Amino acid sequence: MEPAQANTPIHSLLTKLHATYRGVTDGHLADYIPDLAKADPDHFGIAIVTADGGSYAVGDCDTPFTIQSISKAFVFGLALQDHGLDHVLSKVGVEPSGDAFNSIIFDERANRPFNPMVNAGAIATSALVKGDGAGERLGRILAFFEKFIGHPVKVDREVFLSEKATGHRNRAIAHLELNFGMIDERVEDHLDLYFQQCSILVTCRDLGIMAATLANNGVNPITGERALDQRYVKNVIAVMNSCGMYDYSGEWSYRIGLPAKSGVGGGIIATLPGQLGIGVFSPPLDERGNSVRGIKVCEDLSQSFGLHIFDVQKSIKSVVKRQYDGANVGSKRLRGTDELAVLEREGGRIAVFELQGDLFFASVEQLVRRIARSGGASHIILDCRRIDHVDPPAARLIRTLADQQVAAGRKIRLAHLLPGDDRHGRLVQAGMTPDLFLADVDQALEWAEEDILARNGRTAAADAELPLAGLDLMQGIGESDLALLANVLEKFHFPAGAVIFREGDPADRLYFLAKGTASIHLTVGGARTRRIATLGPGVAFGEMALVDGAPRSAEVRTDSDAVAYGLPISRLTALGRDHPGIQTAILLNLSRLLSQRLRKANDEIRTWE
Ligand code: DON
Repeated sequence: MEPAQANTPIHSLLTKLHATYRGVTDGHLADYIPDLAKADPDHFGIAIVTADGGSYAVGDCDTPFTIQSISKAFVFGLALQDHGLDHVLSKVGVEPSGDAFNSIIFDERANRPFNPMVNAGAIATSALVKGDGAGERLGRILAFFEKFIGHPVKVDREVFLSEKATGHRNRAIAHLELNFGMIDERVEDHLDLYFQQCSILVTCRDLGIMAATLANNGVNPITGERALDQRYVKNVIAVMNSCGMYDYSGEWSYRIGLPAKSGVGGGIIATLPGQLGIGVFSPPLDERGNSVRGIKVCEDLSQSFGLHIFDVQKSIKSVVKRQYDGANVGSKRLRGTDELAVLEREGGRIAVFELQGDLFFASVEQLVRRIARSGGASHIILDCRRIDHVDPPAARLIRTLADQQVAAGRKIRLAHLLPGDDRHGRLVQAGMTPDLFLADVDQALEWAEEDILARNGRTAAADAELPLAGLDLMQGIGESDLALLANVLEKFHFPAGAVIFREGDPADRLYFLAKGTASIHLTVGGARTRRIATLGPGVAFGEMALVDGAPRSAEVRTDSDAVAYGLPISRLTALGRDHPGIQTAILLNLSRLLSQRLRKANDEIRTWE
């Protein structure tokens, strides 16, 4: 575990809290279990562990003490994992009883104890723990706790035997439960298991981690290990919220608003789902069996840090970080003049939504409204790079959204979610098909542009070889000059994946792509390369050779079988001497092309701003 973070504002506040409440001497040690009366009433520790593993601890955070009733919440989780919700609910209710922890009142209508947090319910819950014999059942509980805490745990034998010898009231409860058919006849085994789980030794720091594991959806934030099946985390927290502080649960929720559980050893855990867990240790108890300082510390923390679970001051931030269209931002595909003209006219129909945060009901609802407002769009791209989490119901809503878009004649793609990724998995589980996912926004933009170009009557250019007159840099050159040029041009056939030139190669010729596509790749740190542009038929590349003659600054590789023309600079210079008009036309076309690309870059910068 990372060392606790001292010298931070949070640590300072905890230190202040500790100093403030150390002076409170109200309350009494639990003495109905003789061994608990030996506790030191001055022991006092506070620990906070966040759902992403930050930790803060002040006071006696490493002193072991018995977990007592705090174990009830966790063993309830184990019973849920062993049997599922319905069976557990048939044996133990989830209604607050409004009674003390050792109450001998049962829910007579349903023939079960009221809830798993009072002793009667906890004994019935322990009776549900699976295992072959008493030893294996205890072993399963210890192993389960170990995952929550992150290190092996053991039972304090003295406390266990002390409670076993004196726990007549619990024994009476268990026998009544046997009488009513709530538990089976292994009464002494069930009681032993219950007394042993209560006698597990923990520290205040351990309690903080256990609470944080609940806050982190059942995954221990320090070890990264799952302790409790995610399906049951909410059930455990819900019962803590309604019943965890016994007959103080209502007022606790009203004032402090953190699902919690106390134990007569002086511990309290409190959990704020998604954010943090708190552990407090101070043995003197109030008349309800809750730690006096523990309650004060939690109340103060809740107020100072704004932790009340129902005090939701933050509204969801906008799920759409930015929205732009394909007229302002294009793919990295460099296109010929004709294609650019179509996209200038139609690109506005490509709507890109750059999303952020988590996808859950409220954020997807917001997204649906935004998309509804972009009525003219024909292609919708959801850029999910900044989406952290997609919950299953949100995945189902996104799937319905996609279906409805398609039914309305629009096309939709999601960028940046690929197989192997949790978010992708959730959406696929919700029924989204693999073709809806593209690697990145650039590919999605290219997909939309190609589709728009196809709809606008472009022939499948990648399959046809363009005549010389169709090349960008040949615009405005007359037929006889083109015939002259044809004699000096070299013609190359490249298979897919061929390297046309590498970074650093001498820049000795200018190229024109007549068929197929090729991409420009740039080395960006070490061996990593990044595709910065894709070229289609008609487009010139390697044109910087004409301008500055410096070595190639990037690599160009074909994506498909391609045909390209090469014009060696030396031949162009020679041609320029006898036919200056040809050279001038090519240079003018080149300047036009460069300024077009610059304008496009400016448009994109404007959009990002
Ligand atoms: O059942 C008992 O008496 C104890 N082993 C546990 C009780 C407990 O921690 C009550 N909580 N405040």
